[in-house]
Amino acid sequence: QVILCGDSERVDWSTFDDALPSAAAIICPLTERIDAPLLDRAPDLRVVGNCAVGLDNIDLGAARARGVEVCHTPGVLTDATADLAMALMLAASRRIVEAHQFVLDGRFKGLRADLLLGLELNGARLGVIGFGRIGQATAKRAAAFGMDVVYWSRSIREDHSVPGARPIGFDELLETSDVISLHVPLSDETRGLLNEKRIAQMKPGAVLVNTARGPVVDESALAEALASGHLMAAGLDVFENEPAVHPRLLGLDNVVLAPHIGSATRRTRERMTEMVCRDVLRVLSGEQPKWRAPFE
Ligand code: NAP
Ligand code: GLV
Repeated sequence: QVILCGDSERVDWSTFDDALPSAAAIICPLTERIDAPLLDRAPDLRVVGNCAVGLDNIDLGAARARGVEVCHTPGVLTDATADLAMALMLAASRRIVEAHQFVLDGRFKGLRADLLLGLELNGARLGVIGFGRIGQATAKRAAAFGMDVVYWSRSIREDHSVPGARPIGFDELLETSDVISLHVPLSDETRGLLNEKRIAQMKPGAVLVNTARGPVVDESALAEALASGHLMAAGLDVFENEPAVHPRLLGLDNVVLAPHIGSATRRTRERMTEMVCRDVLRVLSGEQPKWRAPFE
């Protein structure tokens, strides 16, 4: 028995009381929390297929302790998510949502020299936090826009292919970047990484882009920094308590909000689904999964 969770709303697992005891596989989106109590209700479970690269919704230790394989979708969504990071970076820096609303409101009365001035990406510094697959793909795009790319990450990558990108210290990245883009996974180490103190350390007038995970940023401190004008703008695809968005963010003009659509292109979503289903079938037929979660 394979349990397939849709993603229109969170699953009420009590409706699976009959299915869980004999389930061999669960295929789910990242909105499902797969934890020890749930795993204990599925003693025959052999594999969980997560339709996402991020694994923060799964208790990997609990899965490993029970001999349950976990597979996910690394790589296949890198370009789509980097495109979205770049789209949010451009939209926030050039005030595209404000501009769109300005026209819709009938306020466009002709070109003005001081109308909706923004940040020019060419020559601006991009600080990438988390220089993995998506961080590097975003950096590559930013380099093509003429940005000066610096990064901070757990491991220093000498083998990357981003023209000119170089590692710097975390404090220096915060203090000197015109734009910061977040690409770390959510973990105990990265939860609250951009807290109130670190947001205050960011360069005045900087732009923050978050396509990683909401809880990496203190949303209330971010809203305050945007309202006070310390930060120029933010582009956010992820939120601390998804699907809820901090009410102060909803009232600000200098934010661009997206409903967690980083990997949402038709091609990428089809490839993610196929990748997970194939891996689940591999495990169920006694083979190794190709895209096993890193269990560290
Ligand atoms: P990845 O290739 O594993 O890159 C993550 C990078 O973060 C790696 O360089 C990793 O360092 C670094 N890192 C991990 N823990 C760290 C820490 N404590 N401090 C500093 N750096 C740390 O993953 P990816 O494929 O780029 O995906 C990154 C994240 O993006 C996912 O985990 C997910 O949360 C998010 N995401 C969001 C969307 C969306 O729809 N918005 C779509 C896809 C992914 P090492 O090289 O040492 O591992
Ligand atoms: C999306 O957020 C993912 O982790 O794939």
